[in-house]
Amino acid sequence: MYTEKVMEHFKNPRNMGEIEDPDVTSKVGNPACGDMMNIYLRVGEKNNEKYIEDIKFKTFGCASAIATSSVTTELAMGKTLDEAEEIEEEDIAEELGGLPKIKMHCSNLSANGLHEAIYQYKKKEGMEISEDLERKHKIAQKTLEKTEEMRQEHGLNED
Ligand code: FES
Repeated sequence: MYTEKVMEHFKNPRNMGEIEDPDVTSKVGNPACGDMMNIYLRVGEKNNEKYIEDIKFKTFGCASAIATSSVTTELAMGKTLDEAEEIEEEDIAEELGGLPKIKMHCSNLSANGLHEAIYQYKKKEGMEISEDLERKHKIAQKTLEKTEEMRQEHGLNED
């Protein structure tokens, strides 16, 4: 069963759509189900620290993917990049009051999307990238490839 909060975010997703002229975008996929998402970031600077000034998402995904993406944008908004990098799938699921076990992988999608967007921004700006973020980026690349193959095989491509 979904919690009320999951249903509420699914029905009224926050920060859904695209940022016009974003600083960076990410694209991630979930090879288990073929769902995909994009994260768009605008990054600002305050007290000499980069922070998430705006964040939006688009997903070709299930109800949990929409709810977890929505809550991920709320958790990340206004945080410094380093703070947002610490947001993990467990935090996202907990913020929603839990997810059915079979749907836990859906929260990976939004966490991966956020981490990948931060990776892309740090890389573009020549910022230091932690080993953990580098590892997450490599996994995100591999899973995106597998997801795209899976979507191709099953005729799930949107274009
Ligand atoms: Fe694919 Fe939820 S079933 S993200």
